[in-house]
Amino acid sequence: MKVVFLGATKGMGRALARLMAARGDELFLLGRDPDDLARSAEDLRLHGATGGVGTAECDLLKPETFAPALDRATAALQHLDAVVVTAGLFASEEELEADAALRDRVLTADFTNTIHFCELSRARLLAAGGGTLCVFSSVAGERGRKPVILYGAAKAGLSHYLEGLDHKFRAQGLRTVLVKPGFVKTGMTAGLKPPPFAGEPEDVVRSILKAIDRGTPEVFAPPIWRWVMLVIRLLPRALMRRIGF
Ligand SMILES: NC(=O)c1ccc[n+]([C@@H]2O[C@H](COP(=O)([O-])OP(=O)(O)OC[C@H]3O[C@@H](n4cnc5c(N)ncnc54)[C@H](OP(=O)(O)O)[C@@H]3O)[C@@H](O)[C@H]2O)c1
Repeated sequence: MKVVFLGATKGMGRALARLMAARGDELFLLGRDPDDLARSAEDLRLHGATGGVGTAECDLLKPETFAPALDRATAALQHLDAVVVTAGLFASEEELEADAALRDRVLTADFTNTIHFCELSRARLLAAGGGTLCVFSSVAGERGRKPVILYGAAKAGLSHYLEGLDHKFRAQGLRTVLVKPGFVKTGMTAGLKPPPFAGEPEDVVRSILKAIDRGTPEVFAPPIWRWVMLVIRLLPRALMRRIGF
């Protein structure tokens, strides 16, 4: 499979890209730091990626980098089977409420600019006859909750967009895979107390790769979060308020 990957330098992205490399997928990495990209490309070559691993600068906070990066990737791979977006930003609710510039960066990266990037990606995938667009959102987008109001709002909008994209374009060959991680132990969650059912990146990416291969429209990671969120989605608002959820 020929894959363009935004966010393979760390966390779940790195674990997923390594799994793809190990089975011989051809990868092209996009990211914001050329040195990190070069190190990640070398790491993936050592893990077995075929055809060399190309890289191009692409910063979620610089939308002008998106089209040139995707063009370079398409030219290098000659065909696109999948675009994977694990890149994202997180900050605590307290930090986001206190700092307008940080709030703007997180909302812009996780919602507006991820959607701009997906729009360019889906156009290229459809022009190539179809393919898979896999994007990481979050269970934080499933309900409005006090600890993740702002981050959750960006992810809720992103999830909504991806579900709509799936309804509109699947018949034309675009397979949208919306990933909803629960709590996974990565740099993003370092310093936070892991809740029950916290996952390790190397474990959760196995079911995510299966979902990419099958074109499953929605995948929770770890999978048990599907049932946790089913209960949370059903909680009456008055009860959420009473228990301070
Ligand atoms: N970990 C969790 O518990 C959890 C839960 C729910 C949802 N998620 C979502 O899952 C995805 C992956 O999370 P993770 O835990 O693996 O995070 P992570 O370890 O912090 O990795 C985040 C990735 O995003 C990239 N990135 C950040 N800002 C960027 C920018 N402006 N332009 C381009 N790339 C940028 C980082 O690249 P650099 O190397 O350049 O920093 C890194 O490769 C994210 O979308 C996150 O919101 C995570």
